Amino acid sequence: MRILLTGAFGQLGFALNKVLDKVSYHEIIRTGRSIPFGQKGMVLDIQNKVHLKEVVKSTEPELIINLAAITNVDACEQYPELAREINIAGLQHICDVFDGKIIHLSTDYVFDGESGPYGENDQTCPISVYGKTKLASERILLDNNPDHLVIRGNVLYDYPTLSKASFLNWVVSSLIEDKEINVVEDQINNPTWARSMADVINLCISNDLNGIVHWGDADHVNRFDFAKMIAERFSLNSRLIKPILTKELGQTAPRPLQSGLMTTKIVKMLDVIPPSISDCLEEISI
Ligand SMILES: NC(=O)c1ccc[n+]([C@@H]2O[C@H](COP(=O)([O-])OP(=O)(O)OC[C@H]3O[C@@H](n4cnc5c(N)ncnc54)[C@H](OP(=O)(O)O)[C@@H]3O)[C@@H](O)[C@H]2O)c1
Repeated sequence: MRILLTGAFGQLGFALNKVLDKVSYHEIIRTGRSIPFGQKGMVLDIQNKVHLKEVVKSTEPELIINLAAITNVDACEQYPELAREINIAGLQHICDVFDGKIIHLSTDYVFDGESGPYGENDQTCPISVYGKTKLASERILLDNNPDHLVIRGNVLYDYPTLSKASFLNWVVSSLIEDKEINVVEDQINNPTWARSMADVINLCISNDLNGIVHWGDADHVNRFDFAKMIAERFSLNSRLIKPILTKELGQTAPRPLQSGLMTTKIVKMLDVIPPSISDCLEEISI
């Protein structure tokens, strides 16, 4: 199948390309706002509908996986118009110019974090601009065609050299530089290795899933404990990690606290087992 990835040079894009590239019957078209040095791909900004239409026409994909988004939660709060232009209007552009199947990535930030982990049928109630834009994009996608698929994830991590969106990179590089870091102990999620998400996206493609599904790895932990696990795995100084409360951080955007995603539905549909954090960390080398 010919698959076009938007935002292909982000954290998940790299992991997904690695997984899909190994499937002999897939042809992957990687697109990004810019192409990192040494990588192959096409320049594509999903805000530019005219160019998007041309790229779709010239490459004739059978499936588009939309990973393009502004993922910096505080930047979304600061620049809500830009967040809407990329996260909502960008997806609308894809729906407007492409007739085939679309898989779109969304987030547990569509929930308020009062009573997670959340199932697919739980009431959404985003508390940040980022969460609101992602929820609006989900609705656009499924109103356009209920056969499309939304996959919600949370706290994706990896050790990418080129993407900025990795918690693991931040923890590792800070500790290597002997820098003390404050990590929140009151935000609970199920952190998910980008490779684990990529494997599940691959299965969603082959099983032609539609609607909304949640994917997250097995362990529900607070961010402070997750940082400690990272330090332990890479033999770094965990005493540099200090617990802090979200309200003490004074971040621009509010964060869901008791969040995370339940995976019962997808586990049943695909017969998959979410991996543990320690198994995933074991497979990552820095
Ligand atoms: N990271 C997480 O914890 C997490 C959790 C749940 C869901 N998700 C979702 O998963 C998807 C992938 O996230 P990620 O972790 O891979 O984040 P990421 O590393 O920030 O990747 C997002 C990519 O989108 C690109 N992009 C931004 N605006 C664009 C535009 N107008 N046109 C084309 N590309 C654009 C970015 O390029 P630039 O580098 O040029 O900005 C970046 O390469 C996103 O939809 C995100 O909302 C992420």
